[in-house]
Amino acid sequence: MESKIRKTFKFVVIGGGIAGVTCVEQLSYSLPSADVALITAGSHIKAVTNYKQVAKVLEEFDVEEQPTSVLEEKFPNLTVIHSPVKTLLAQSHLVETADGHIYGYEMLCICSGARPKLLTHDKPYVLGIRDTDSAQEFQKQLTKARRIVVVGNGGIALELVYEVEGCEVIWAVKDNAIGNTFFDAGAAKFLVPSLGADKPERAAPCKRSRYTTEAQTFTAGLIVKTIFFFSRRPLTCTIASPDRHTRGRGPGHTEPGSALGPDWHRGLVLKGAEQASRRVSVEYQCEVETIFTSEEMLNSQLETYTLDTGKWPVYVKLTNGKTFGCDFVVSATGVTPNTEPFLHGNNFTLAEDGGLRVDDHMVTSEPDVYAAGDVCTAGWEHSELWQQMRLWTQARQMGWHAGRCMAARVLSEAIELDFCFELFSHITKFFNYKVVLLGKFNAQGLGSDYELLLRYTKDQEYVKVVLQKGRMVGAVLIGETDLEETFENLILNKMDLTEYGEDLLNPNVDIEDYFD
Ligand SMILES: Cc1cc2nc3c(=O)[nH]c(=O)nc-3n(C[C@H](O)[C@H](O)[C@H](O)COP(=O)(O)OP(=O)(O)OC[C@H]3O[C@@H](n4cnc5c(N)ncnc54)[C@H](O)[C@@H]3O)c2cc1C
Ligand SMILES: *[C@@H]1O[C@H](CO)[C@@H](O)[C@H](O)[C@H]1NC(C)=O
Ligand SMILES: *[C@@H]1O[C@H](CO)[C@@H](O)[C@H](O)[C@H]1NC(C)=O
Repeated sequence: MESKIRKTFKFVVIGGGIAGVTCVEQLSYSLPSADVALITAGSHIKAVTNYKQVAKVLEEFDVEEQPTSVLEEKFPNLTVIHSPVKTLLAQSHLVETADGHIYGYEMLCICSGARPKLLTHDKPYVLGIRDTDSAQEFQKQLTKARRIVVVGNGGIALELVYEVEGCEVIWAVKDNAIGNTFFDAGAAKFLVPSLGADKPERAAPCKRSRYTTEAQTFTAGLIVKTIFFFSRRPLTCTIASPDRHTRGRGPGHTEPGSALGPDWHRGLVLKGAEQASRRVSVEYQCEVETIFTSEEMLNSQLETYTLDTGKWPVYVKLTNGKTFGCDFVVSATGVTPNTEPFLHGNNFTLAEDGGLRVDDHMVTSEPDVYAAGDVCTAGWEHSELWQQMRLWTQARQMGWHAGRCMAARVLSEAIELDFCFELFSHITKFFNYKVVLLGKFNAQGLGSDYELLLRYTKDQEYVKVVLQKGRMVGAVLIGETDLEETFENLILNKMDLTEYGEDLLNPNVDIEDYFD
């Protein structure tokens, strides 16, 4: 095998998503004369543009799909290899690509992302959405569809259900409100009227209330009937370009491309076979029990909810006892890290969620192998205000940190865990409202030992603060609240806020003055 090695690089990075590209950039900036290789399955990479540091940890940026040549022009000592990695021999420090070439590395960073968790792998008519190809496949199937079943309650399901027209949507969520990954039901309640379903009411005066944890029932009882829209800043993306399939797809084209981000549906007309506009019914607190094809349905004695046996190609039985026939099922129930090509013959420690476990230097359990982004699981002892979520922000932060750590090792410099891992932060847009999430924004892992402060102005803003022992540990800010920087500070300073009480959210008190 050794004799077949094409070239040995100082650094090899696998994957052209945000994590891989950021890692490559960081390495190339830090060590311009080092040989760096980026091995990726797709012909395009994801680039971060318009990066803006909003506060100490909060950041905002756009994501653009670009041809790989853009990177190569920027970094002359970078080689881009367009073929997916098929095998990793971690002991010998070698990778083999699908086109049969073997490359050596001194240090490797795996940034191969994740793919949608499918409800089932052995059934046709079940789709997951991950990259431009799967989004196109979805669009194609949708043009012939009269009814689809969407399963899942994260950002992708939210967008999808809102965007699809001309096709009935049955939406199965395991929670008692929609959008649970990002919102509590209180935030959901704020967003719903903005959908313009009914006559808009005038903005009511600011209401402030303090809720203890019992107030969970105040929110949990809410069942949201309408649908959110989940969009974001403009994304330059080649989804709709007709020659997408003909470009640079070598052998092994079943490898996934980069994950789409927000606005993935832009340029895609998500329209079903029927004329009617949006028709969505939500099935709450249920999961999928089984999926049958039409034949299996006919052969079974199962009584269908719709009594239309044989009419649909596929049937979904939910745990609430109902069965729905449909044209296809969209599985939007989260992601699984893309680890398979790397596991065979190697000794990686995997986390419970299937990710490659990394330490605070982004190092896996294999020597000289790092990992970043959706493929990895943060295995260090987290700051109490941070949690991993497989989002763009974290893919960038991890790729950057991995690149820094790899370069630092060459330069024999010491490096600490980056400050951005002190506090969870995410900026996005839901239904055209700016949304800022900080820390334990949904009181994750706090048990019942916390208090919530809410400020709610209809159609304008929703502010939620999570307090524990008088200290702010999390916040949700929807709308132009202008509070993100101050709140970030208050959280990071761990200041006791007891004496300020509800004034913290009093719109007539400029809290910035308090804390200067
Ligand atoms: C539809 C959708 C909507 C989303 N919306 C949002 C959102 O609104 N906000 C947000 O923050 N996040 C969102 N996300 C999540 C976000 O896209 C991911 O967290 C992020 O893209 C992860 O980046 P990554 O670099 O780790 O992986 P990816 O972007 O998945 O990139 C992985 C790369 O590895 C390559 N690869 C895979 N296997 C191999 C192999 N064997 N050999 C070589 N290369 C390989 C792929 O081609 C790809 O280039 C969304 C995801 C989806 C699918
Ligand atoms: C590329 O590497 C060579 C040495 O390997 C170095 O001389 C050159 O300056 C590097 N190029 C850039 C743009 O840094
Ligand atoms: C794999 O890792 C475990 C724990 O680190 C170690 O005990 C074992 O010897 C390793 N096996 C190989 C083949 O390297």
